[in-house]
Parts: sequence; C-alpha cells; structure tokens
Amino acid sequence: MKKLIGMIAPLLVAMAGGSAAMAQNAEPRWSIAIHGGAGTLERKDMTTEKDAAYRAALQAALDAGKAVLAAGGTSLDAVTAAVRLLEEDPKFNAGKGAVYTWDGAHELDAAIMDGRTRAAGAVAGVTTVRNPILLARKVMEDSPHVMLAGKGAEQFASEKGLELVPNSWFDTPERLEALKKVKTGKVTALDVDIKFGTVGAVALDTHGNLAAGTSTGGMTGKRWGRIGDAPIIGAGTYAENGVCAVSATGWGEYFIRVGVARTLCARMAMKGESAQAAADATLADVARLGGDGGVIVVGANGDAVFGIEASGMYRGRATSAGVNQVAIYKDE
Ligand code: GLY
Repeated sequence: MKKLIGMIAPLLVAMAGGSAAMAQNAEPRWSIAIHGGAGTLERKDMTTEKDAAYRAALQAALDAGKAVLAAGGTSLDAVTAAVRLLEEDPKFNAGKGAVYTWDGAHELDAAIMDGRTRAAGAVAGVTTVRNPILLARKVMEDSPHVMLAGKGAEQFASEKGLELVPNSWFDTPERLEALKKVKTGKVTALDVDIKFGTVGAVALDTHGNLAAGTSTGGMTGKRWGRIGDAPIIGAGTYAENGVCAVSATGWGEYFIRVGVARTLCARMAMKGESAQAAADATLADVARLGGDGGVIVVGANGDAVFGIEASGMYRGRATSAGVNQVAIYKDE
C-alpha cells in the first residue's frame, strides 16, 4: 500500500502543478458587446447596401473596443472607444446624426459607469459637445458630480477643453426627413429611424473590471427638455463588478420606469439568474408596460448577451474565446 501511495503521490503533485501552470498560461479573458439601436428592423425594409453599411460600422466599433481589450486595456477605454466611433457615424442616433428636437435642433444625452468603483458620469441635453461620451467620462473622472445638464454641462466641457461644434454640425438630411414625418403624425412609435437608435457598449477587461457606456440623441420631435433613459444611471446604463454591465436602447420613458439596467443586474446578483434570463425577464416587464427596445449585457463571467424586445437591434459582440458577431434582425 505504502509503495502504491509512493507511486501515485508524485503523479498527483505533477498534475496539480500542471493545472496551476495551465491556469497561469491561460489567456486572460475579455468580452465586449455593442448596440446601435433597437426597434422595427425588417429585412424587407433594408437594401443590401444599407445592410452591409450597418454591419461594417458595427464591426468597426467592435474592433475599436476589441483592440483595447486584447492589448490589456481597460473596459472603460474599450467602451469609450466603441461609443465614440458610433457617435461619429451619422447612421446612428448619437453625436453626428442625432435626431432632431421638435424645434429643429439636437440635444444629446450620454452616460458611462465604472463597475470597479461604481463611479459614474452623465450628461443631458447638451447641444454643442461633439462627443458626449467623452464629456460623461470627464464628469465621472474630473468633477465631484454624477450628472450635468444643459448650459452648465457645456460650460464644464469648455473648461475641460473638449471639442465643441455648432449645433448644426449634428445635422443630417435623413434625420430632418424623420422630423418632418413625425410632424405629420403618420409614424409608428416603433420606427427605429424615428424614435430609437441610441448607441452603447459594455465590456469586461482582462483585469476583471466591467464598464458600460451609452449615448443618444433621444427621440425625434422631443420637446420641453425631454431626457431619456440613456444618461440615467440604473435605467439605460449600469455596471457593477462581479455582476454585470448593461447598456439599453429603446423607448426611454419605459426604461426609466422599470429601472432596466439596475433591475437586470439585481436579478443576476440576488436571484442568480444568467445574463440572458435577467435580460429577457426585465424586457418582458418593459413590454408589459407597453414599451420596447433592447439591452446588451456582459456578465462578470464574460457572457456577452443581447436582449431584444423588438424586431431587430443593431448589435455586435466579441470575446477572447473567439466570438465575433454583428447582427441586425432578431432572428439571427
Ligand atoms: N433610449 C433613448 C431615449 O429614449 O432617449
């Protein structure tokens, strides 16, 4: 017996050493998901060219985030890079290409959250800041506040040296057409080009930190200083290490009332639900109230999932395990 133990023991020690070495050599894990808006998105309404252009734009934003994460950068930098690129792309309702207010201007909202510290920054109703996601990040990192709005937010942007542009810089002919359509009253609330189109990103970095960011022009024809869910921490944007990071897109009023992003993370933390189950259950609640839209979620375990309560969502996800997907319609 002693002889047998003597033979097996070195084997067990070698195996244990081997798995420790394997763990040390394992690729550090990262994960990212992005969205560019959810709503009525049907194949029959898309040309081949438009479909391809959206997929290329999503892939470019995903690649920007992936590059940061694969190089060992932070989830905050990955989220900032991806959202900034989507803000620069006139196809999406954020930054350049933001929808028009009823009065023919643009008012932009954005937020970012660091899951490591649960620090957050948000801006609402800004009209001259080229990249609202950069301003949200400045609010988080360089002010004692979480949310700044309107003129004060712009003064802060100017003091911090962020790029300012005339409000007309955000103009696009397509969004102007959308405003004209809204003013005729002949559009459905679900039209992605009219109501939705918010952009966002969520990421887990190789250090185990989660982050979420969201940016939007809001809803076409909005009035009276209307603010949506995107800049409201816990509604459109939320991140908490060890649980999840969420960015939402959809009919903001409903997402605020449900507290979508925080509720989703709470379901994971308190009920032990998977990211997918929590996303589906939270969106079902939005739908019960009459709202719709979608979420992207990255869990602390690296799961990158989509929740969609609409016929489509511009979206993408990538992980260190080799996942790389961009998609538009719900059934793909
Ligand atoms: N989800 C963006 C908004 O409602 O403004």
